[in-house]
Amino acid sequence: MKTRQLGDRTVSAIGLGGMPMSIEGRPDAARSIATIHAALDAGVTLIDTADAYHLHADDVGHNETLIATALRSWGGDTSAVVVATKGGHLRPGDGTWYVDGRPEYLKQAAEASLKRLGGDAIDLYHYHRPDPAVPYADSIGAIRDLLDAGTIRLAGISNANPAQIREAYDILGGRLASVQNQYSPAFRSSQPELDLCAELGIAFLSWSPLGGIKSAADLGTRFAPFQRVADAHGVSPQVVTLAWHLAASPWVIPIPGASRPESIRDSAGAAELTLSAEELATLDAA
Ligand SMILES: NC(=O)c1ccc[n+]([C@@H]2O[C@H](COP(=O)([O-])OP(=O)(O)OC[C@H]3O[C@@H](n4cnc5c(N)ncnc54)[C@H](OP(=O)(O)O)[C@@H]3O)[C@@H](O)[C@H]2O)c1
Repeated sequence: MKTRQLGDRTVSAIGLGGMPMSIEGRPDAARSIATIHAALDAGVTLIDTADAYHLHADDVGHNETLIATALRSWGGDTSAVVVATKGGHLRPGDGTWYVDGRPEYLKQAAEASLKRLGGDAIDLYHYHRPDPAVPYADSIGAIRDLLDAGTIRLAGISNANPAQIREAYDILGGRLASVQNQYSPAFRSSQPELDLCAELGIAFLSWSPLGGIKSAADLGTRFAPFQRVADAHGVSPQVVTLAWHLAASPWVIPIPGASRPESIRDSAGAAELTLSAEELATLDAA
């Protein structure tokens, strides 16, 4: 598996997104564990999660617990694996989401995530989504405090605009390892953030890189050029899409979600697919 830089760590160029294993439509635990094991078997060393990936009010952290369990039962050396989690975006259990960016809340949420994930510190912690009721600097100040206290090893932000990336970068004294924003063939408006990450040397983790849980299967139908390039290479349109992400910048690391071992096994192959300049131009224009 080809690798990319994430802060002071080196991780697989393709990550695994944990959300489909814990929200609406989630599979049973055995299939989820098999999916995470399949990712590890394929050389995936970046797994994305969040405390909010759960269904009911009483199973906050469902996905973090699942990932910790799968890492323990895998049987191989997991020291190279980076588990990235997030805090500040919550689900009351009725399918809705809300934000809480208060510093005291974020610190308490990070401690709870650490307890679920185990170990001495969280590998990478993202502030999940800006809270309009709290100054951004205050929320990022909490992330800086968590870094300084050693509760988290690397800091990231998610759903951030360029001004917020620059602000976080400054508040963290340059220690901003990752920006996690939505980016896919259907959603390209994070291009300015992607470009800024390349300029500053920050990993850009594209979320919903295949268009999201409900749309990922239809990618080749909705974006015909991706299907055409896939046919030419004898791979799936999802693999072509992930290779297109990787070609966007050396700092991009897509984190495709999966709830089936087959999905992440297929996606992991994207790291080996090189697209020609002509193909990339066609996909960019699609
Ligand atoms: N920071 C944020 O605010 C935020 C928001 C949303 C998501 N995320 C993160 O980003 C991750 C990815 O986003 P996402 O899960 O919403 O959407 P996605 O990655 O665009 O799509 C996920 C779906 O793609 C399917 N899939 C994956 N690889 C495939 C392949 N090679 N061939 C066919 N289908 C394939 C999976 O199907 P199966 O389920 O059948 O395996 C899965 O349900 C999430 O899991 C989460 O970790 C972050």
